[in-house]
Amino acid sequence: MDLEVIREKAWQSMGTRHSHPDREPGYAFFHGQRVAKIAVQLRKLVFPDEEQYDDVLVVGSWFHDVGKGIEPHWEYGALICREILADLCPADKLEKIVEIVGSHTLRKAREYPFYVKLVQDADILDHYGSQEIWLRFWHCAYRRESVDYALQFQRDSYMSHVKKVRALLNFSQSAEFFDEKDQFIRDFMERFAKEAEGELLGK
Ligand SMILES: [Fe+2]
Repeated sequence: MDLEVIREKAWQSMGTRHSHPDREPGYAFFHGQRVAKIAVQLRKLVFPDEEQYDDVLVVGSWFHDVGKGIEPHWEYGALICREILADLCPADKLEKIVEIVGSHTLRKAREYPFYVKLVQDADILDHYGSQEIWLRFWHCAYRRESVDYALQFQRDSYMSHVKKVRALLNFSQSAEFFDEKDQFIRDFMERFAKEAEGELLGK
């Protein structure tokens, strides 16, 4: 597969598209690029001998949200990426890529091959850590919401939300990264809550 050509196709279909009002234009493209890198890093840790799947992981990650905005986006995404990639991927790889796109949201609904599970986990991981803060602030800005609104989410919903999402991870290695990102968010929001009250920190 010519990854440069395929990446260009991903850019054409997602690079400037505004598929979700709470996120910046092009989000699906840049998120997909990050998910691919995360998926390959996880693959190296969890399945060190399966390097031959990396191109499938990368292309599946790039296109996993190509259907975003047309719900159910994983089903439309599977159709869209099959069409875009028809002449660019060998048949066996195309099937795996379509499988990744078509089932990336249906976590734990059934047993999946490891390449689907890796992208499912990478997709979750890219929404946490500093990216979570970015998404939350973007959400607040778009909705014209206050600092208090962001803090209220932290107080009322964050913990139960994170517990649910963590339980959807497939690999213990993913959970370790998730916990580190979760801790970063808690620390950041704790400071944000204090500074929102005008507290001076650092002494
Ligand atoms: Fe995603």
